[in-house]
Amino acid sequence: MIKTPSTQNTITPAESKAKQDSYWIKTFGCQMNKADSERMAGILQGMGYREANNELDADLVLYNTCTIRDNAEQKVYSYLGRQAKRKHSLPHLKLIVAGCLAQQEGEALLRRVPELDLVMGPQHANRLETLLNQVENGNQVLATEENHIFEDLTTARRESKICAWVNVIYGCNERCSYCVVPSVRGKEQSRSPEAIYKEVESLASLGYKEITLLGQNIDAYGRDLPGISPQGRRENTLTDLLHFIHEIKGIERIRFATSHPRYFTERLIDTCFKLPKLCEHFHIPFQSGDNNILKSMGRGYTIERYKRIVDRIRSLMPDASISADVIVAFPGETTEQFQKTLNIIKEIGFDLVNTAAYSPRPNTPASTWPNQLPEEIKIERLLELNSIVEATAKKRNARYLNKIEEILVENSNPKNEKQVMGRTRTNRLTFFSAISPKGLQYKPGDLINVQINTIRPFSLSGNPLE
Ligand code: SAH
Ligand code: SF4
Ligand code: F3S
Repeated sequence: MIKTPSTQNTITPAESKAKQDSYWIKTFGCQMNKADSERMAGILQGMGYREANNELDADLVLYNTCTIRDNAEQKVYSYLGRQAKRKHSLPHLKLIVAGCLAQQEGEALLRRVPELDLVMGPQHANRLETLLNQVENGNQVLATEENHIFEDLTTARRESKICAWVNVIYGCNERCSYCVVPSVRGKEQSRSPEAIYKEVESLASLGYKEITLLGQNIDAYGRDLPGISPQGRRENTLTDLLHFIHEIKGIERIRFATSHPRYFTERLIDTCFKLPKLCEHFHIPFQSGDNNILKSMGRGYTIERYKRIVDRIRSLMPDASISADVIVAFPGETTEQFQKTLNIIKEIGFDLVNTAAYSPRPNTPASTWPNQLPEEIKIERLLELNSIVEATAKKRNARYLNKIEEILVENSNPKNEKQVMGRTRTNRLTFFSAISPKGLQYKPGDLINVQINTIRPFSLSGNPLE
């Protein structure tokens, strides 16, 4: 029986039974999903589940899924097939699909994989306990209805003890013609500044030093909250939020992602420059270097505007790290238009670019257009793009050599225990000796100046100076 659950918490024997049981969560997709997984792991631990040693040992397996491109979706199905088989010999195994694919497919997923106990969309992550209780009562449960996301009372089980993700806005109200996110993540829902403040304050009291504020379009933060200043300006913008949480003692670094060029303001850039805890690290997808393609993508900015944003950032923070996402072979993209994307990458010199070939997605306008490009062109353009991205990133990387960078120590280097690892303010992974020049042992949470002497494509090494 498929049951669409009510929003009320019911108390059942699930908790006591869960005591001996173990869970395994595998996360696909973006940081938003990673943050949701940490909250769901917190809920499971609160119910008495312990983490399994591996996927094939677990009594409860949860896949937190992504559907941004077809290959992301196919990956999930191959994992699911394995677990569905396992369930035939282990009937007590609980199988859950959460996240964006769950929302996209809903009941169809239950039909395709009847072994599933629970299919739950991203807006239901905080309700995992209630939903599991319903599974425990013998139901196959589907939770994909539109849901107001209540403030989270559970404690997330975070991967790191030093750096934490903090959701500030859920969902997305944009309508980029290629993108499945609005249909799977729902309408924008901003958390209140007070709730965010409280969460960050509690992270600080637990010893966290760095937070990354998350939203699919973080510049939209606060649009759905009340508040107009006496001067008639909207209050509760991302900029206001940054000022508000900046004062929290113990937090040393603040980042945010993802920025949308349409809404990225000068005021925000100036704030990042002025507030010392704000890191010089910006993720601003531009998607295409051609204005007509940008228009058919529904992005709402021109490449000239994008360049002005980058110029403004670099005029204040010349060494800032700037990364982006790009799509090639969007429907109708000509060779010249593709060339413009390559040119922008060379011209701007990004630190990192996430690249993808266009993938038609369900319920998106672009997927129905007749001017789709063939697979060969997609592959060809993606390969060419990737080689340019690599070459320009390498050039940009050279600026680190001999520079002194402030590193926040996160851990020891798993491949070399004589070293610790952490990140620069620009988010570059950096390794250095675990022992200071004076013979002291560095520990997670330390902020250390390191002189960089080795540059690799995705990491740096250097000598600690203090
Ligand atoms: N909110 C962010 C991006 C979220 S999705 C933004 O507005 O930029 C992450 C990235 O996946 C996108 O930036 C885009 O580059 C890529 N992407 C999204 N839909 C895609 C599709 N249908 N095909 C290929 N890449 C896609
Ligand atoms: Fe997708 Fe556009 Fe929203 Fe980003 S802003 S999540 S690309 S619809
Ligand atoms: Fe994927 Fe959903 Fe994130 S589709 S990229 S996990 S918002």
